[in-house]
Amino acid sequence: MDSIGSLGLQQGEGAPSCPQEGLPCPSNSSEMVQECLQQFKVTGAQLRQIQTSLLGSMEQALRGQVGPAPAVRMLPTYVGSTPHGTEKGDFVVLELGATGASLRVLWVTLTGIEGHKVEPRSQEFVIPQEVMLGPGQQAYSIDVVAVVNDTVGTMMGCEPGVGPCEVGLVVDTGTNACYMEEARHVAVLDEDRGRVCISIEWGSFSDEGALGPVQTIFDHTLDHESLNPGAQRFEKMIGGLYLGELVRLVLVHLAQRGVLFGGHTSPVLRSQGSILLEHVAEMEDPSAGAARVHAVLQDLGLNPKASDAEWVQCVCMAVCTRAAQLCAAALAAVLSRLQHSREQQALQIAVATGGRVFERHPRFLSVLRETVMLLAPNCDVSFIPSVDGGGRGVAMVTAVAARLAAHRRLLEETLAPFRLTREQLAEVQAQMREAMAKGLQGEASSLRMLPTYVRATPDGSERGDFLALDLGGTNFRVLLVRVTTGGVQISSQIYSIPECVAQGSGQQLFDHIVDCIVDFQQKQGLSGQSLPLGFTFSFPCRQMGLDQGILLNWTKGFNASDCEGQDVVCLLREAIRRRQAVELNVVAIVNDTVGTMMSCGYEDPHCEVGLIVGTGTNVCYMEELRNVASVDGDSGQMCINTEWGAFGDDGSLSMLSTRFDASVDQASINPGKQRFEKMISGMYLGEIVRHILLHLTSLGVLFRGQQTQRLQTRDIFKTKFLSEIESDSLALRQVRAILEDLGLPLTSDDALMVLEVCQAVSQRAAQLCGAGVAAVVEKIRENRGLEELTISVGVDGTLYKLHPHFSSLVAATVRELAPRCVVTFLQSEDGSGKGAALVTAVACRLAQRTRI
Ligand code: BG6
Ligand code: GLC
Repeated sequence: MDSIGSLGLQQGEGAPSCPQEGLPCPSNSSEMVQECLQQFKVTGAQLRQIQTSLLGSMEQALRGQVGPAPAVRMLPTYVGSTPHGTEKGDFVVLELGATGASLRVLWVTLTGIEGHKVEPRSQEFVIPQEVMLGPGQQAYSIDVVAVVNDTVGTMMGCEPGVGPCEVGLVVDTGTNACYMEEARHVAVLDEDRGRVCISIEWGSFSDEGALGPVQTIFDHTLDHESLNPGAQRFEKMIGGLYLGELVRLVLVHLAQRGVLFGGHTSPVLRSQGSILLEHVAEMEDPSAGAARVHAVLQDLGLNPKASDAEWVQCVCMAVCTRAAQLCAAALAAVLSRLQHSREQQALQIAVATGGRVFERHPRFLSVLRETVMLLAPNCDVSFIPSVDGGGRGVAMVTAVAARLAAHRRLLEETLAPFRLTREQLAEVQAQMREAMAKGLQGEASSLRMLPTYVRATPDGSERGDFLALDLGGTNFRVLLVRVTTGGVQISSQIYSIPECVAQGSGQQLFDHIVDCIVDFQQKQGLSGQSLPLGFTFSFPCRQMGLDQGILLNWTKGFNASDCEGQDVVCLLREAIRRRQAVELNVVAIVNDTVGTMMSCGYEDPHCEVGLIVGTGTNVCYMEELRNVASVDGDSGQMCINTEWGAFGDDGSLSMLSTRFDASVDQASINPGKQRFEKMISGMYLGEIVRHILLHLTSLGVLFRGQQTQRLQTRDIFKTKFLSEIESDSLALRQVRAILEDLGLPLTSDDALMVLEVCQAVSQRAAQLCGAGVAAVVEKIRENRGLEELTISVGVDGTLYKLHPHFSSLVAATVRELAPRCVVTFLQSEDGSGKGAALVTAVACRLAQRTRI
């Protein structure tokens, strides 16, 4: 026998050494008693086998597989959340007693987080005979809010404050347990998020291989004589209804063999059910003393001798110790399941215990606890006794359901303005079309529709070595681009632009840029060479030619002084002059959308639109020159930088703007500007989410209503978290980990809600972006008088590339709103620097031709 087996009779607290020497028993009585008691001893190996087999049976049932033997049932209870501690209100619970003859009315007042106190008051009513036997309809009608298993009631009634109580264990007349399972593991639920409470129904566990070796002849007799032979075999070894009966069968057996009561039984002892759990518990109670044992036996019509009391106590202990050990094996199976489903090696968990066996039996809990420690050594389990039976838990289930329903309502109300209808999106598309047309005509419009002086996409004949700068996205890059017959080769280096430089003086910014170029040239061995340079400058510029661009205003995180209204190429040339040592030949300034379109256009001639969804957002496209009022000429095309980030700055988007958009706008460095961009791009989505989370916290929906300092911090919630949180491969556990890393400790319910917030915000962004693209491609189709347009859009930007659903949502919206356009989205792999070099190459080619 290994260590667990030795937990049994010999070492049990207060256990007498049975049988005692010198007692006046029949000569072989000691062996006869030992033989009986021996049958109730369970070894550690046997308990482990039960644990393993039960776990297997549980997992099989979760997967929805029906085993050959009646297995545990694993019934989902539709309770998806444990108490929060913030539940408030008055709840009435009706408990129909086991016999159906009494009705207990329980009034539970929950007082919320402050000193979270549950104050139950209850009264029992006898149901009059005429009501019990009547037609079942009386003058009252009751709305049944929740039908709750007693294990669930026990778990839910557990006082919070000792960590999550996610297991409920009942050993009453029968036995059962429930626990919180990850919903995605429960095959019968079509749900991949959150948790659900599962009632195991372990009483029906009956694996012959595991239970057979621990069953005694008394178990077989009990089962045989029961109302349901062959069923609930595990329960019949543990439940309070059976413990007394097992003791009775052993006593009858020993009395009939002359070992007990002078060989006499009594009619009471011989009648089924005469020894109750209370009798067993009382006789085992070390404080009871022999006189009490005698009294109980006498009540059973027996005439015990002095030695009989000791023997009877031994029998009671053997039966109950085994019950507690078997119960421990089953609980250990649940703990293993929790460890596995939560992928946690070391589990810290509270188990709520309820039922008369725990309440009455003096040693049941301590044996259970010791055995669990041995069977599940990595689990730190605290046992919390249920104070008021399952009734209070039922109130709690109702309260939790009420809280969840209220929170869901508030969440839905908060997110409703983010859920745009098809009509709203079509309206955005229409307004965008109007604003584009006005902008092209030079009329007042929030879309500037800036000519770029790029008249053609590359034709493949471009050649040469070029320098390129790429400023305005997440990274500032300097590049060497070699365009050869064999394709394009790029070497590049990323340099940082510290915030103090981006928002310092213009001179400082451009000096820094030139320093980076010089450093790059040295590293590439290009010092002293004056290569043609293409400058991707991702801000709105009014261009008068390819190499002239007046910065209209800064956007995104830039705000360097004395630059707005200045020609950016001049600012760069001045900085070059200040540095003296270098010579640079700035040939073209291009927006990143243009660089992206050109870069993708090198591979696909259908690419006539450039889209950026990164730190900021913008689109350019090839427009008919005849439509561009500010540039002379009626034939041919020119790429137009729409600067759509500013769409809505004239108030046209106010119908869609939420209070959260307003807060983000107000706190930005350019309030009132770039309103469309602020609803779509990476610089702002995290901030919108953060403002929504703050609001939901203030409503008590999130983080138990407790505002955390971290969440008040601007930009703490990066847009990359949206991409991570919404990644389909992540379980909610990982979502929690991401948020906990941010110092936001949350429950599974919180994690689910944060996920929904992220989804609503990014979905709106993608749909708005799609409505914009639909406006652009439809305009191109109409410009060309085509029934159907086939076109490609070159796209770049971290949000578009990293977010798991953004690109497909954009595409779906475009399909919906521009059904006559077949649009292919091409992700730019090389950044827009390559495009800037290609623009430069085209310009150099054309300049050479003019010279010839
Ligand atoms: C890069 C381009 O790949 O994407 C830049 O080279 C562009 O020109 C950027 O500005 C946009 O994305 P983000 O996420 O870096 O702003
Ligand atoms: C901002 C800039 C725009 C740029 C876009 C994407 O909207 O104003 O020029 O194209 O960000 O980077």
